Amino acid sequence: MILVTGGAGFIGSHTCVELLDAGYEIAIIDNFSNSRPDVLDKIRTITGKDFKFYEADLLDRDKVELIFKENKIDSVIHFAGFKAVGESVSIPLKYYHNNITSTLILCETMAKYGCKKIVFSSSATVYGDPATVPIKEDFPLSTTNPYGATKHMIERILTDLYVSDNEWSIALLRYFNPIGAHESGLIGENPNGIPNNLVPYIARVAVGTLDVLNVFGDDYNTHDGTGVRDYIHVVDLSKGHVKAVEKVSKSTGVEAYNLGTGTGYSVLDVVKAYEKASGKKINYKITDRRPGDIAMCYADPAKSLNELGWKAEFDLERMCKDSWNFTVKNS
Ligand code: UFG
Repeated sequence: MILVTGGAGFIGSHTCVELLDAGYEIAIIDNFSNSRPDVLDKIRTITGKDFKFYEADLLDRDKVELIFKENKIDSVIHFAGFKAVGESVSIPLKYYHNNITSTLILCETMAKYGCKKIVFSSSATVYGDPATVPIKEDFPLSTTNPYGATKHMIERILTDLYVSDNEWSIALLRYFNPIGAHESGLIGENPNGIPNNLVPYIARVAVGTLDVLNVFGDDYNTHDGTGVRDYIHVVDLSKGHVKAVEKVSKSTGVEAYNLGTGTGYSVLDVVKAYEKASGKKINYKITDRRPGDIAMCYADPAKSLNELGWKAEFDLERMCKDSWNFTVKNS
């Protein structure tokens, strides 16, 4: 059985669907801090399969231990964690305490029960402002905010863990920019309040709940001056987790993998693609740069192809189409 922490969240829920479809038994632990209970039934509806669910906080050591007592957990996919960059700057201790301590409790409990296989939800944010693109896994790591620092620190903790005990098998998955939704329109990304990220914001402009997109700067050194990112369909990203679970189950070691498409699109490219997918006009205005943003970030996904046998399949048009379908069904 695979334990999925944060399995009710955006990437977690899509990954649970892929795991169930691939025939795995799963248990989910989630405290709904940034998700909703109805997601669980939607996962059941999509897959026609059931799973164990624990409503609990990973900081609750006794509850975490109970899961390992009650189930034979073979491997863990660890999504749970706070992820808002801006909030992490204003409330750093909340981020360090939650993200780091929960991972320590999880790994200590795993070690106690002899479960030494973990797939960790990391981020391309660990590359900081890369000197060149595309980004390879062996590029130097640096971070510019507490959220990113927790991802970097957890990678380090897991690496040290492997050094101390070579029986561990660890995959550090560095996500680029996950967008889109399941084609059913049942699960997707629906942040509370005003979205921080580009595509959820565009979706609300398209559906009419927000008036205008602020494009954060058009003076970057990119093809149209707006920031370039590697947007990846969340279903492709989720399939990468299934491949990573297969990998950690049959080998030991600690390895980082980029999960991106390898193609960069600008903010205005995404606006155009979303207009086409939705048939709606996206009003936008150019504003100042957002502090901490970089010009370009896109992956070299070759290592994931060579070592995991994974590559992204869906294009930007499909990502926007699925985002729009989810938005229309859930607004
Ligand atoms: N952008 C806008 N207007 C908005 C929101 C975003 O112009 O309202 C621009 C940004 O400046 C950037 C691009 O759209 O050029 C993408 O921004 P996002 O906020 O969607 O994503 P980021 O690349 O900033 O950050 C994402 C995740 C982080 C993660 C990082 C890793 O949100 O958690 O990728 O590279 F750390």
